Parts: sequence; structure tokens; C-alpha cells
Amino acid sequence: ARLARLAPLAAVVALAGCRGPQSTFDPAGTEAASVIDLFWVMTVGATLIWLFVMGISIYATRVQPGAHSERTGNRFIFWGGVVFPVVVLTALLVFGLRLMPGFRAPADGPRIAVSGERFWWRIHYDTPDTPGVAKALSMEGTPSANEVWLPVGRRSEILLGSPDVIHSFWVPNIAGKTDTIPGRINRLVLEPTRLGTYNGICAEFCGTAHAQMGFRVRVVSQADYDARVALEASDAAVLDHPGRASFEQAGCGACHAVRGTGSNGLVGPDLTHLASRQTLGAGILPVTPDNIARFVALTEHEKPGVQMPAYSMLPPAELETIAAWLGALR
Ligand code: CUA
Repeated sequence: ARLARLAPLAAVVALAGCRGPQSTFDPAGTEAASVIDLFWVMTVGATLIWLFVMGISIYATRVQPGAHSERTGNRFIFWGGVVFPVVVLTALLVFGLRLMPGFRAPADGPRIAVSGERFWWRIHYDTPDTPGVAKALSMEGTPSANEVWLPVGRRSEILLGSPDVIHSFWVPNIAGKTDTIPGRINRLVLEPTRLGTYNGICAEFCGTAHAQMGFRVRVVSQADYDARVALEASDAAVLDHPGRASFEQAGCGACHAVRGTGSNGLVGPDLTHLASRQTLGAGILPVTPDNIARFVALTEHEKPGVQMPAYSMLPPAELETIAAWLGALR
């Protein structure tokens, strides 16, 4: 009786993870909706079959020897061992194959290049199509990082690549997973159907900070999307700030770009509009000047295995002014 009383509580705990911004159980995109349909068909179907087989097994252990003729036994084997699996597996195959053309339907929205880096996501909006595709991932289009904006109701084409190791691009609520593989371009079409902010993650072990390689997907109206891309394409807004000189003196521009200044490094994430993103360090911290200072000084602590060296040698005042500047780059 006590167990029975605990059951609803256990169910609540188990299902609590089913909604939210990073759940395949809460689809906000066409592909994710197909995937969850397939999941339920398979789960419910497999459960029914399991119960049926268990029932027969229990019956078999109880029936008296000689209760059935050999002919009945053979019939059981034919219908249960041959016909039943063929019918069930064929039906499942047909159901699965019918979902696939939906995944392959052509895109009608923007084309966005996403490159899996160690350990963050390089993004280019309005990236050119073939034959520039291979080049697209080596930086054509409007650069950004770690946050992919998408117009709702459009089929956006995501080109996926990587310069060194394999990652996997996954937005559980919308679609995925598709690997980013060095030397080739994979295509993924994302068709978000609901406005909102969703979490994406790297779904292929890629190194020490694999678990901290997240991103955000912001699903917005077409007008908001256009405004966002225009913002991404513009130069940095706050140029007259003491933090800018400190940033340049510390050599940050060798790896990071802040467009509109002399800093045009391509190794690390583009910081031109850093403060307009929700997260810092690829999904791990909210963007605040405090967190920026912390990340710069304690990089290895915040994100083990990250390529960026920690700048703990910077005097605190300098660190603070750099963080204040970056934190103002909306
Ligand atoms: Cu990138 Cu795991």
C-alpha cells in the first residue's frame, strides 16, 4: 500500500524531465514531432508484444504435457514465430520509411552554417550555397557564436562542419542529431513550429569539455529574425570605452573578433555582440560582466579542456574594465 501511494510521486518525478527547453518529449519542430510519434508507436507496440509473449510463456509453463497435439504446436511456431514478427517488423519499417521524406524536404528558409569547434559553436548567417559550401564553413556570411536564431514556420537549412574532431548538433525539441564531421558538410533542415528558446547540445563525445558544449536556439518571428541578422551583421556598438584598449593590449584580438575594431581573430568565438546572447562559454554561464571576468581569469576552471588559456595574470582592474566593455557589446 505504501508503494502504491509512492507511485504517483515517482511518476511525477520521472515525467518532470519530459517538458522544457531540452526535451524530445516536448516537440517544437516538425522533425521532433515525427520522432516522438515513432517513439510512442514503438514503445506502446513493444510493451503490448512483451505482455503477449509473457502471457504465452506463463501459459507454456503451466499447461499439462500432451494437452495439445504436435500439429497445434507447429501452428503456434508458424504463426507466432514466423508470421507475427514478419507482419510487425514490416509494419514498423513502413511506418518509419513514411516519416523519412519529411526529413528530406527542401528548405525554404535561411541557410546557416554551423561549425563544431572545441568546445563551442561557430555560426554564420546567410552563408552562400555550393560551390562555396566548403568555404562557407571557413567563414563566409555573418559570423556569430553559440546562439542560433531561426524564423518560426520556415524550413531553415543548417550546414554542419568541423575543422578537427566530430561533434553532433542536437536540439532535442526541434530536430537532430546530426554529426559535424571534418572534411565534409552535413545538411540538416530545422522547421521550428513554436516560438521560444530551446537548448541545444553536443551529442558526440569530442573531448574534455564535451558536456559543456551547449548552445541556444531562439525561435522568433520572421521580422525578429531579420532584425537579429541585421544586428549580427553590424559593427560593435560600444567602441569608446577604456576596456577596448585593455582588450587590445592583452592580445585578445589575436583569437577573438570584435568587428568595427582592429580585433579580427578567428580562432575563438566572435565577440562583436556578445552581450546580446543569453550565455557565455557555449551555454554554461549567463552573460554578465562578473561572469566574463571570471571566465577570462579562470577559463580552465570554468571549462576544463578549453583551448583558451586562462588570463589570470591580468591585473584585477584591467580584467574588470575588459569585462565591462565586453558586457556592454549588445
Ligand atoms: Cu562537441 Cu561533444
